[in-house]
Amino acid sequence: MKKYQNIWESAVPYLKQGINKNFIIHTEGVVKAMELILKKEKGDPDILIPAAMLHDVGWANVPKKYQRTKDNADKLRGMKLHITLAPEIIKKILQSVNYKAFQINEVIEIVQAHKFSKPRKLSKKMLIDADQLSDAFKEQFYSDVKTYNSTPEKLYNFRMNDNNFYTKVAKDIFLEQMKQRRSEFESI
Ligand SMILES: [Fe+2]
Ligand SMILES: [Fe+2]
Repeated sequence: MKKYQNIWESAVPYLKQGINKNFIIHTEGVVKAMELILKKEKGDPDILIPAAMLHDVGWANVPKKYQRTKDNADKLRGMKLHITLAPEIIKKILQSVNYKAFQINEVIEIVQAHKFSKPRKLSKKMLIDADQLSDAFKEQFYSDVKTYNSTPEKLYNFRMNDNNFYTKVAKDIFLEQMKQRRSEFESI
């Protein structure tokens, strides 16, 4: 993690501009999830950790009216924009830490595949899994409960309804985490 500290520090100001949710907490969870997935699946951390850190920086440049909107067409527009606006920011950040052009392109390709695609490449599947697994961790889960004005039980049911993962490691950790979330609201 220390190795990627400069990248993280450059990502933070962008992540702070996204208003859909707390993207700092979310992204910390995605990085943690990626580290766990990398223990079981083959992948290059020099590519995949920055991809996790930078996957949502595009939200910084998405007009606020497409963020946190109730209109579904606008919501979709925002979603698409956070993908198309990401490469420029990623390029700027990774060039500043001397990443090579081919590495930057790889990170960008992986980030661009984290929504609206069904990738074949494992590295792209790993980011999609990490993005989703993050939602199950304690800090991230309760941050979302707050953001969505929801309850732990409602969010639990929502997350459990939609939990397709590519990798077994992500699915296993997700279910184990969700079991803990469940025991937290059942104990109240
Ligand atoms: Fe995203
Ligand atoms: Fe994300």
